[in-house]
Amino acid sequence: MKNKIEQYLKEINETSIDNFVNKLDGIEQFRIKFLGKKGVMNELFECFKTIPNEEKREMGQLLNQLKTAAQTKIEEFKSYIEEQTDDNGNLDLTMPTDFSDIGCRHVLSVVQNEIIDIFARIGFTVAEAPEIEDDWHIFSALNFPPEHPARDMQDTFFIEKDGCHGDVALRTHTSSVQVRVMEKNQPPIRIIAPGRVFRNEAISARAHCIFHQVEALYIAEKVSFADLKQTLLYFAKEMFGENTQIRLRPSYFPFTEPSAEMDISCNICGGKGCNICKHTGWLEILGCGMVDPNVLEASGIDSKKYSGFALGMGVERMAMLKYQIRDLRLYFENDLRFLKQFEAIL
Ligand code: DAH
Repeated sequence: MKNKIEQYLKEINETSIDNFVNKLDGIEQFRIKFLGKKGVMNELFECFKTIPNEEKREMGQLLNQLKTAAQTKIEEFKSYIEEQTDDNGNLDLTMPTDFSDIGCRHVLSVVQNEIIDIFARIGFTVAEAPEIEDDWHIFSALNFPPEHPARDMQDTFFIEKDGCHGDVALRTHTSSVQVRVMEKNQPPIRIIAPGRVFRNEAISARAHCIFHQVEALYIAEKVSFADLKQTLLYFAKEMFGENTQIRLRPSYFPFTEPSAEMDISCNICGGKGCNICKHTGWLEILGCGMVDPNVLEASGIDSKKYSGFALGMGVERMAMLKYQIRDLRLYFENDLRFLKQFEAIL
């Protein structure tokens, strides 16, 4: 009972008039919740009757405290409304607004925009494509073999048609945008594709079923791995600071050959080794590679004449590293205490 009372006290203290979209309605709901016939106070008084006598003194005091807190809060709300209304009870629309609670951008938008800006400075423009995609654009045109595990229901949210899953799904990566762009445009192509992606994962601190990626694609004549490397270095320094170093590790993606993963020197310990970089001095940042000729051909681009590079990164991960956020779930819970920490980085 004590816990409950303390929880309610906290709730009352934290409720502000700004929590209510419709202020008058909100105040009434608040009153009913705490002081109404079937409200919290009456429920607790019922409970009070059943507790042992020796606890009654302490609980009684707490209950009174709770009741006074609720009443005082309601008075506060009412006097706020009175201040805002004229003598006839109408809202005075000429009153100056309270600017103290102005909203701010979500940290993911801020980081995503920062990535877009960095690439925009070297000529990349934003491209978009559907979140609901067909198998061709998510997998086949990107050179995924038919038996690739990513095509499995376990990883991909398929959209059911007539009770069975067809070839339409929520995109699992923004690489699908590459295909859409190449189908419609001939090189030179220089795009950046930010967007939401979906995977059938259990939600935890390290995985989520929705997250954001940014993809970059550059196709022209004679694009080489050196161009990719220089672009990556430029990006890493702009994003994480001038002293950032990069390293490339060989990797595998169906749509690039050769493929690599890029690490940056740990921006927290400066490469010396810490918890965040698991004492390696390096942080994994993104996947990249030279676009596989099969991918170019599948989208109608002559692979003998053109070559290119692609890269893809997770926005949540970038924000985690930049602002040392430890739990992915925080991004989607919309807890104001979390969101407000980023007010200053608009
Ligand atoms: N699509 C990959 C993923 O979701 C990321 C990626 C890797 C994108 C390499 C690329 C790339 O463009 O070249 O894990």
